[in-house]
Amino acid sequence: MVSRVIPVDAFDLVVFGATGDLACRKILPGLYRRYLGGQVTERCRIIGAARGPMTRAEWQAMIAQALSEHVAKDKLKADKVAGFLERLEFVAVDARGGQGWADLAAMMREGVVRAFYFSVAPDLFGPLAERLRAHNVADSGSRIVVEKPFGHDLATARELNATLAQHFDETQIYRIDHYLGKETVQNLMAVRFANILFEPLWNAQYVDHVQITVAETVGVAGRGAYYDRAGAMRDMIQNHMMQLLCLIAMEPPYHFDPDAVRDEKLKVIRALDPVRPEDVVRGQYEAGEGLSYSDEAGNPDSRTESFMAMKVHISNWRWKGTPFYLRTGKRLKARVSEIAVFFKQPPHTIFDDASGWQENLLVIRLQPDEGMNLKVMIKEPGPGGMRLVRVPLDMSFAEALGAEGSDMPDAYERLIMDVIRGNQTLFMRGDEVEAAWSWADPVIAAHEGRRPLAYAQGSSGPLASDRLMARDGRVWRELH
Ligand code: BG6
Repeated sequence: MVSRVIPVDAFDLVVFGATGDLACRKILPGLYRRYLGGQVTERCRIIGAARGPMTRAEWQAMIAQALSEHVAKDKLKADKVAGFLERLEFVAVDARGGQGWADLAAMMREGVVRAFYFSVAPDLFGPLAERLRAHNVADSGSRIVVEKPFGHDLATARELNATLAQHFDETQIYRIDHYLGKETVQNLMAVRFANILFEPLWNAQYVDHVQITVAETVGVAGRGAYYDRAGAMRDMIQNHMMQLLCLIAMEPPYHFDPDAVRDEKLKVIRALDPVRPEDVVRGQYEAGEGLSYSDEAGNPDSRTESFMAMKVHISNWRWKGTPFYLRTGKRLKARVSEIAVFFKQPPHTIFDDASGWQENLLVIRLQPDEGMNLKVMIKEPGPGGMRLVRVPLDMSFAEALGAEGSDMPDAYERLIMDVIRGNQTLFMRGDEVEAAWSWADPVIAAHEGRRPLAYAQGSSGPLASDRLMARDGRVWRELH
């Protein structure tokens, strides 16, 4: 029932920031799982690049340790681990200087895909791109993979796009948003465009409103310095949640093709109305079971939001009048990422007792328990006459797909394989990122310097977030 594994072409993948957290936690474990699955073959090489002096054996030992921590025990097969470690090379390079670049150039093989993963601080993206070209490490078919944050605002995102464009063509630039690599996020497109069932109802005439929630239980400990400059708006909404909004709201692309899909997403972002300040709620968690946000961020007077809820409108024919509510936050009650589409009432009720009536609801769950749930009205079973009750038509992907369903590739491994295949569909195009910043910048500016509302750890965020919904006669879905 799961799709076939097709090995990717031979590649040399250079990971800059090879000793960093992302490389050890996500990139290398992901590549190992693809090696185990047969997608990454013996002809592939991963070259770790970092500033500090290190031998190949030391990096291999570091990655062996990372695999033991971040790969499930039943997937750690000694011969496979050894085979994977054999695929690793290491080179010390100075991203801002000249050291190591000739060595790296000499290591690159002809006739294989060359990809360069920038798992480094954003201020190194430009210097790396420049040196890859200047030292002839990259060729015209090479791909670069750029991590978030992609800019801090429109001006910096534009600058970064312009810098990268001096050295690489847009078709060579893969801007990662790991939400696009999640199984259910891609399923969103399959559900919408491979079924006739939903699309006729997918508009303002039938959809009352949409709720997009990404709630987390973790705080910002360990990454407070970055987060305090970003906040929920830059960290989650401008990118991950914007992508979810686009996939839910976009028109059907003419083909499942990178530019066709990205053109449609871009149209959604451009059609977003400016967000009114009164439609935004910003929160910051207080001390509770853990430290307060400001303590974790190391900034006692921090005005950065760790929670944000907002109402968004899309001004186009399909969506005019249907609000989209977005909500994200740290240290909330539960870890839940989901999209809930609330349908309208039928135009007329034929039942005398319609007291049990509730709207049709489609919930697309990203995590945990990936799956879909469609709530429909039926007759309450039994002899008691015609009364209505709402029941779920539940589909958990893991259950529906059996054991293989619980073994779905993680977002990073899927996206890295797409880089090697040269498929940009699940990566953000430069104009898309800029459009998202054009929309986000005024929202950020309107609240800059204002103190966010306090909320308790383990709650659903500030009460004002519930009031935002209550004002429109609606309620958020429970976080559980
Ligand atoms: C990252 C954010 O991009 O996404 C983090 O920087 C956030 O703050 C994370 O915790 C959430 O990702 P996931 O895959 O755990 O939902």
